[in-house]
Amino acid sequence: MRVCRRATFNAAHRLYRADWSEEKNDAVFGKCNNPNYHGHNYTLEVWVEGEIDRETGYLIDLKILKELIANEIQERFDHRNLNLDCKEFANLNPTAENIAIVIWGLIREKLDKRYALSVKLWETQNNIIEYDGK
Ligand code: NI
Repeated sequence: MRVCRRATFNAAHRLYRADWSEEKNDAVFGKCNNPNYHGHNYTLEVWVEGEIDRETGYLIDLKILKELIANEIQERFDHRNLNLDCKEFANLNPTAENIAIVIWGLIREKLDKRYALSVKLWETQNNIIEYDGK
């Protein structure tokens, strides 16, 4: 059985590699390489898999998941410039793929080991990334 808690955050980013020429960055990342950054309204789905607790009837208390996401993800990334404000992306291109991997790692660290974890990140309504540690 799996349960999901959804959350949103807004953040700015720019996709580029400092070790590439301007031409190559433009060719690969296009508008996402805008030097003045651009923003997204990210939607995050955190999926937790495990066994139902017969006593409570919960797989996990979703309040715990809500607070974990608020403390570890929204507090850290909401209303931030991911490239400039967030050490996680100081040397990591903040693509949706990399953001999902970082988020997964942050939640994994704080989530009870008895649960399996998967995160789904919606960068736009149409671009969605899923990461479960593999
Ligand atoms: Ni973007």
